[in-house]
Amino acid sequence: MQVLGIETSCDETGIAIYDSKAGLLAHNLYSQVKLHEEYGGVVPELASRDHVRRVLPLIRQTVEAAKTELKSLDAIAYTAGPGLMGALLVGTATGRSLAYSLSIPAIGVHHMEAHLLAPMLEEDVPEYPFLALLVSGGHTLIVNVSGAGQYEVLGESVDDAAGEAFDKTAKLLGLPYPGGPVLSALAEKGDSKRFHFPRPMTDRPGLDFSFSGLKTFAMNTVKAAADDEQTRADIARAFVDAVVDTFVIKCRRAIKETGLKRLIVAGGVSANTQLRAGLIELMDGVNGKAYFPRTEFCTDNGAMIAYAGYLRIKAGQTESLNFQANPRWPLTDIDMV
Ligand code: KG4
Ligand code: ZN
Repeated sequence: MQVLGIETSCDETGIAIYDSKAGLLAHNLYSQVKLHEEYGGVVPELASRDHVRRVLPLIRQTVEAAKTELKSLDAIAYTAGPGLMGALLVGTATGRSLAYSLSIPAIGVHHMEAHLLAPMLEEDVPEYPFLALLVSGGHTLIVNVSGAGQYEVLGESVDDAAGEAFDKTAKLLGLPYPGGPVLSALAEKGDSKRFHFPRPMTDRPGLDFSFSGLKTFAMNTVKAAADDEQTRADIARAFVDAVVDTFVIKCRRAIKETGLKRLIVAGGVSANTQLRAGLIELMDGVNGKAYFPRTEFCTDNGAMIAYAGYLRIKAGQTESLNFQANPRWPLTDIDMV
């Protein structure tokens, strides 16, 4: 079975073809970073228009790279939410109409479920049940996963998502958008002993997160300290240390509560080298294991959409023609596979 995946929920057009026998046949990504850079963040209307421009050429290119044809496709999966409404509608309308014209089923995929399943595209696949730490630009969730589509959210951010905190702090430090990777690189040059940031919500029980205070803490530190390159690196370092420590503390707690020894980490921030190192160390320490997607599948991509769609199509799940995009779609509101 060949499934075409279409991702257009935010600022990346991602297209891929997943084959049930051969695995991933091809994937392509068009990033809109250059388009939004001068605004310091994603401009939704510009994002939707650019998806319109890119989606069909990218589908053609991916079909060619996969050495297949449109008429050989068995199903189409597209991101139906959560995300930016206009952007989601581009993928939804494209996926639905293409499927209709080819007389094949189509399915709307939950973007965070797709992130969660992205590690399944790697060689070493975790067995269910496992814990999932989902850290993206819009969401921060810790989930008890008993099977595909069986998600119990154990904790989430009460304010900013982890990626959002990275982006906002980077902006404060004068770094370009998207700030996550640049801030992380700057932190490598920083001294971890110079500043100490709080580890939010670790002093009370529970698995929820709060990251908006870190950005304020960074702002106050920036104002109080000298404005030189080393100071900025030291602040970046203190911020990253605080985020990593917070995730390590909460994951350790989740392991204790659930007894689970497998942790998958996915979403844009899972590309972060410091976070990866911290969580690998944690899992080694409890004789468990941490699983990650390859770096390019941590951030948004079409491959994870094709794969998540494939699982549901294989299980016979499809939707009627009038299915709509859903910009606010809780992970717990989806069906079991
Ligand atoms: O999953 P994603 O591509 O999009 C959403 O679903 O939101 O995540 C994007 C987020 C951005 O906030 C970006 O700054 C962050 O992931 N990010 C990183 C790194 N790479 C991407 N944050 C920290 N370190 C990184 N290496
Ligand atoms: Zn994402």
